[in-house]
Amino acid sequence: MFDSRFRNRNDGFGSRVRTKPERTATCPLATSAAPVTKNKAPEADTNTEKPSMVRQVREKKPKMKTFSIYRWNPEEPNKKPYLQDYNIDLNDCGPMVLDAIIKIKNENDPTLAFRRSCREGICGSCSMNIDGRNTLACICKIDDSSKPSKIYPLPHMYVIKDLVPDFSNFYMQYKMIEPYLKRKTPTKIGDKQLFQTEEDRRKLDGVYECILCACCSTSCPSYWWNSDKYLGPAILLQAYKWIVDSRDEYTEERLSQFHDTFSLYRCHTIMNCTKVCPKGLNPAKAIGELKMLMGGVRSLPAKNSSTVGPTY
Ligand code: SF4
Ligand code: SF4
Ligand code: FES
Repeated sequence: MFDSRFRNRNDGFGSRVRTKPERTATCPLATSAAPVTKNKAPEADTNTEKPSMVRQVREKKPKMKTFSIYRWNPEEPNKKPYLQDYNIDLNDCGPMVLDAIIKIKNENDPTLAFRRSCREGICGSCSMNIDGRNTLACICKIDDSSKPSKIYPLPHMYVIKDLVPDFSNFYMQYKMIEPYLKRKTPTKIGDKQLFQTEEDRRKLDGVYECILCACCSTSCPSYWWNSDKYLGPAILLQAYKWIVDSRDEYTEERLSQFHDTFSLYRCHTIMNCTKVCPKGLNPAKAIGELKMLMGGVRSLPAKNSSTVGPTY
């Protein structure tokens, strides 16, 4: 039905009267550039020999890739763990291993269990062993060779299900190092800020970035065999962070917890940890620094000099 609101009117309201623009357009798919009016159907393309633009889009050849994924279900305790193969077309998948695993779960097998959250190497949830190397699935590019990719949970951890390892021991060890700021100087929260000099702040570079993914600890042979007593590179790197933090006043106490043969000294400087860290950190160096602090080879400057800020 004709709508009078859209009629071109010259009725005294001047430019305030909305007029409907003439409905003409050039259809990008039409073979001629002739304008197409609303009520007039475009002339049919009778030239069947000529491929349409849709047909011109070249269909990509499927690029199939096999992912062999570790499976184990605690509800079937008598069934041994096994590798299950999934074939997916890489043309229809994101570039990272996590994209492939999510695709498999969404489209092939909703029973597949794994952890993930941020999808960009920040949360540390998606750590797993991919083609023999511990890493984060979300920042690990799919190897597009024809070789199947093998995916296992982090090694030498108890498995809860499929690619989900049990982090209980790891977190218990993290709790042991008291991973929070501890001070002896009485501070009323909100009274003043704890400032650091730029030099003090720089001491935290290379350690504060740790996301506790455990790729390093679970690649460490010493941790494999003594994870009940040796703290492992991830936790030791975290402990080191609080020890060198100029705002923390419990340095002596923190160091004293390593006075045994296992917690720290089980590290034999094999360097697997540094090799695999997906954040490019160097936990082996932090462990070396801890050993030097313990042995008195190195000492930390007196703390607290740079932490007093103005009171508000
Ligand atoms: S040091 Fe690296 S590998 Fe180890 S827990 Fe931290 S981020 Fe992960
Ligand atoms: S350097 Fe130490 S912590 Fe790192 S992998 Fe070797 S033994 Fe483990
Ligand atoms: S999903 Fe967060 S680090 Fe991979």
